[in-house]
Amino acid sequence: MIVFKRMSALLLAGVTIMAAAGCGSGGDTTASAGGADDGKITMGFAQVGAESGWRTANTKSIQESAKAAGIELKFSDAQQKQENQIKAIRSYIQQKVDVIAFSPVVESGWDNVLKEAQTAKIPVILTDRAVDSADTSLYKTFLGSDFVEEGRKAGKWLVEEYKDSTDTVNIVELQGTTGSAPANDRKAGFAEVIGAESKFKVIASQTGDFTRAKGKEVMEAFLKSNPDIDVLYAHNDDMGLGAIEAIEGAGKVPGKDIKIITVDAVKDGMQALADGKINFIVECSPILGPQLMDLAKKVVAGEQVPARVLTEETTFTPEQAKAALPTRPY
Ligand code: AHR
Repeated sequence: MIVFKRMSALLLAGVTIMAAAGCGSGGDTTASAGGADDGKITMGFAQVGAESGWRTANTKSIQESAKAAGIELKFSDAQQKQENQIKAIRSYIQQKVDVIAFSPVVESGWDNVLKEAQTAKIPVILTDRAVDSADTSLYKTFLGSDFVEEGRKAGKWLVEEYKDSTDTVNIVELQGTTGSAPANDRKAGFAEVIGAESKFKVIASQTGDFTRAKGKEVMEAFLKSNPDIDVLYAHNDDMGLGAIEAIEGAGKVPGKDIKIITVDAVKDGMQALADGKINFIVECSPILGPQLMDLAKKVVAGEQVPARVLTEETTFTPEQAKAALPTRPY
């Protein structure tokens, strides 16, 4: 499956270059079969759920941007279940929307429904998360973060933090939803960087499903079976925040007894970072709405779009979090 994904990535990279050269797959003039012919674009959006602060901010961004762009939005919340997302996409196809956008809960298993959309000539835009389909013509573009790079940034901070130590560093990892792109890629990017030094040992790694409640529950189990945890790497802020409750419940000091790295940089995470309970956050931007609406207008008009649109992101130390918090929008 990893080989398959790498091939997909290579194909995608190829398509990006082709698109930049003006011969990409986005210039399909039969771009849309959907909707009433009133000039107004209707978008069907199949959201993952409401599992985290990041997701809430992402939903808000999509809803507000659709309104601002004059796009009629049909929105569904899949409650983290792939079958619900597939049902929602099929319903959008039946309703003949002009464009479908979705954030796939997991990477695999989308080919059939994407082929149905293609047969109905409804363009599809992936937002936030990728699919592992080998046929990249099944969607027009993929807008979102580079999750592998996010994992690498987390790993690089850790390597720097322990550069003067030769002792073993015991790490526990709270993974995102099993099979999801951010869980797979954040794990891979982190492992790639820390794997270069044998002192770093991931002694436990389990899913916390990107939720605060599960993050707490799994961290409690980690603490019971591993007395010597030095570092927690959580694939999102919410799981990290749940884990902080577990660490405090076990009589330890988060950020000191156990160093914590998370991903997202939502307000609650940034507050914990400013308070010294988290040590480092890798940003993942949920504000995808404005770019999504621009891309939607272009694909519906049959214009070319790049095969991959990356979001710009940074990282935060406690000092940087203190400076950013007063104006942090989410
Ligand atoms: O796909 C993005 C991830 O999904 C965010 O990092 C996480 O918080 C969310 O649930």
